[in-house]
Amino acid sequence: MSFFASVIGKSNVLQEESELSGLNEDWMGKYQGNSRLALRPKSTDQVSKILAYCNEKCIAVVPQGGNTGLVGGSVPVHDEVILSMSRMNEIRSFDPVSGVLVVDAGAILHNVDEYLVERDHIFPLDLGAKGSCHVGGNVATNAGGIRFLRYGSLHGNVLGLEVVLANGQVLNALSTLRKDNTGYDVKQIFIGSEGSLGVITGLSVLCPPRPKSVNVVFLAVPSFEKCQEILTAARQRLGEILSAYEFLDELAFQTVLNIHHGRVHSPLPYGASSPFYILFETHGSNAEHDKAKVDGFLDYLVESNLITDGVVSQDETQAKSLWFIRESVPESISRAGKVYKYDISIPVSKMYDIVLDMRKRLAHLPQTQVSGYGHLGDSNLHLNVVEPTYTAETLHLIEPYVYEWTASVGGSISAEHGIGVMKPNHLHYSKSPVAISMMQSIKAFLDPKGILNPYKVLPL
Ligand code: FAD
Ligand code: MLT
Ligand code: ZN
Repeated sequence: MSFFASVIGKSNVLQEESELSGLNEDWMGKYQGNSRLALRPKSTDQVSKILAYCNEKCIAVVPQGGNTGLVGGSVPVHDEVILSMSRMNEIRSFDPVSGVLVVDAGAILHNVDEYLVERDHIFPLDLGAKGSCHVGGNVATNAGGIRFLRYGSLHGNVLGLEVVLANGQVLNALSTLRKDNTGYDVKQIFIGSEGSLGVITGLSVLCPPRPKSVNVVFLAVPSFEKCQEILTAARQRLGEILSAYEFLDELAFQTVLNIHHGRVHSPLPYGASSPFYILFETHGSNAEHDKAKVDGFLDYLVESNLITDGVVSQDETQAKSLWFIRESVPESISRAGKVYKYDISIPVSKMYDIVLDMRKRLAHLPQTQVSGYGHLGDSNLHLNVVEPTYTAETLHLIEPYVYEWTASVGGSISAEHGIGVMKPNHLHYSKSPVAISMMQSIKAFLDPKGILNPYKVLPL
């Protein structure tokens, strides 16, 4: 303990149960660790000294960002040391000409986005957990979120990383260049590595200009087929301004209204319930042009009988309230019970079939509720099963069925949340034996003693 205190100061070495309990439990209340020690470094140098020491003494370490991850990757399995990145939260630099931001890994996404908005830019990623998650955690999980459709993956937007390796060595790959073809792009291996290969301490990110015109539209749609037709039409008719295309089913929608009873109401003029809801957004640079496009598109949807109701945001407050309905689905579902969460990539045409299949499969368990929502524009379904408490019976009915089903349609068992501690033994449904063996070799090379986030990502 005295070593850690000498590096980061006594007040940043946490050992009290009251300080550790929140860090030992994940956001869903599904995974619980038993760490007796959490460390809060402030600099890359401090992270380096901590890891060098832990590596030498074979002490296992769990890097932790905002602890909003949904696969149990951010909490210890046993008594691993928690390395909290929350004090590493400075903006290092921003270049308004290139749009390149360099920032500490522990900065909170919302704060970073606010900083950028003041400078007429935005962060290329946005997600419901933005008030707590760290940009370093976002990179470590390769988070997708609601702007993916327009601004793409962090694999494209992250230009550089600073990473502390398991032995304490600092990899300075914090390039701010857009183009750099000097051999292997080593930073890529850390994007989505979920704390198993190194601790990300800094990142440089290409940030798009802030859109001058934003429209948010919420629609009631009578069938999933029509949700797909609307997506195809949106791509053709809205083209480059389409920035998000999200869906939620009736159960997900009603759960939000029930949990926020009296405070959140249906935004739709007729207010009648509908099997599906779509929220789409446009980002553009010319309000008149965008409005004409959106209006024309909505006329087409009405004429083609693709929607039964709809509302277009008239100002920023209304836009935020429409987004609130979509973004508060995870929190509302969590408050409704214990959640089994699946995050799968599947062809859009098959996306809702697994929700219907799962409802049939669990029909004899009346306390379970199955809902579907997610990033329809990216073929990413969030399948959620809720029941009052976790039970082995329900779990065995869902898994491995859901993974087999996903593999059978050529999907991925993790579109954006990652593998964490939840899915290492199911990795083979989406990765070939050769790919898993390469992943294991990379892990052995970068972390030969296996101190970084053990039991996560890779099968034992
Ligand atoms: P944590 O949860 O703390 O950690 C996640 C993983 O990254 C762990 O394995 C941890 O060890 C590792 N890690 C964290 N920081 C570092 C670091 N600096 N260096 C190395 N490893 C590190 N995800 C999406 O992709 N899209 C969404 O739309 C989305 N929406 C969400 C909405 C809600 C309400 C919630 C609760 C979660 C959502 N998520 C979503 C999950 C998502 O993975 C996280 O929100 C986010 O990316 C994780 O960041 P974090 O800082 O909380 O990381
Ligand atoms: C979302 O899109 O809302 C998140 O990925 C969280 C979730 O899947 O519940
Ligand atoms: Zn998501």
